[in-house]
Amino acid sequence: MLEKLKDICKNALCEINECQDLKQLNLLRVKYLGKKGPIQDAMKVMKDLDKEQRKVLGQVSNETKNDILEAIDAKTKKLEKQMLEKKLKKEAIDVTLPSFKPPLGTMHLTNQIIEEIEDIFVGMGYTIATGPEVETDHYNFEMLNLPKDHPARDMQDTFYITEELLLRTHTSPVQARTMLEYNGVGPVKIICPGKVYRRDDDDATHSHQFLQIEGLVIGEDVTMSDLKGTLEFYVKKVFGEDREIRFRPSFFPFTEPSVEVDVTCAKCKGKGCSMCKHSGYIEILGAGMVHPNVLGMGGFDPNKYQGFAFGIGPERIAMLKYGIDDIRQFYTNDLRFNRQFNLKY
Ligand code: PHE
Repeated sequence: MLEKLKDICKNALCEINECQDLKQLNLLRVKYLGKKGPIQDAMKVMKDLDKEQRKVLGQVSNETKNDILEAIDAKTKKLEKQMLEKKLKKEAIDVTLPSFKPPLGTMHLTNQIIEEIEDIFVGMGYTIATGPEVETDHYNFEMLNLPKDHPARDMQDTFYITEELLLRTHTSPVQARTMLEYNGVGPVKIICPGKVYRRDDDDATHSHQFLQIEGLVIGEDVTMSDLKGTLEFYVKKVFGEDREIRFRPSFFPFTEPSVEVDVTCAKCKGKGCSMCKHSGYIEILGAGMVHPNVLGMGGFDPNKYQGFAFGIGPERIAMLKYGIDDIRQFYTNDLRFNRQFNLKY
């Protein structure tokens, strides 16, 4: 009988040793140590033995059970450790692997153009000012010498929110606001980039929302030739040294005198071709000397100070520079368009 128990133990240890998963190991536990197991079975002879023999058999069977139990426990621990190691290995992150590169967008062309223009003027000592897109009639019109019922208000088809509130039609209200901040003490040298809105029907050259960069300089000896020199410098930086500008008389209520500024045509350089309708020039911006009324309303003494102002349309600059024929391209978010203009990055 003792031999039989020895064999059972040997078989059990052998099977436990070979077992490779916890479920299987549990089955072995039931198989060897359960009520219907071989040890219990061997115990059936107990009733036919004398006291001394029973004692020995009882002891050996307990030892056998313990040995098997210990082997199972040890194996359980071993398998658990193996499983954990396997799991950790599977979940390990290899930091030396090449990383996933998220697709990067590009800065929108309009922002790139605004930055380019800002850089030029900041280089000339200008600071950048901003203001609200929802404006009051007061700053958008009145402070710019456009009282109610002034016929020139028709030039700027306005989105009104209430009778007094509107979507700004130009960035000029920022110059009105800035002038008041300076409390009548110059010099002032600012540019104001931002979105503006007009009740236009969208087509290739019109958009109900577009961009403007307003420029304003106020000082004690500011003249029209300063304006011309400034714009000439700007135009040559943006379009190239070989381009010239010219002034044509125009009208804006907030400037006197007012001018439209043209640049020589990129294609014919001023000789005249189909692109410039044979004029040799292409219109790029409006400008003028700040009207004394505007200086006065802004808190500056028009007898002491003069100023010039100009309004740049960044989309128009981009269209001329890159041959874009439809302003709506800037606002439809067509990635095929946007991706062509990765100028800086
Ligand atoms: N604010 C004018 C417009 O939008 C442009 C402009 C600005 C003209 C400054 C002259 C001087 O029409």
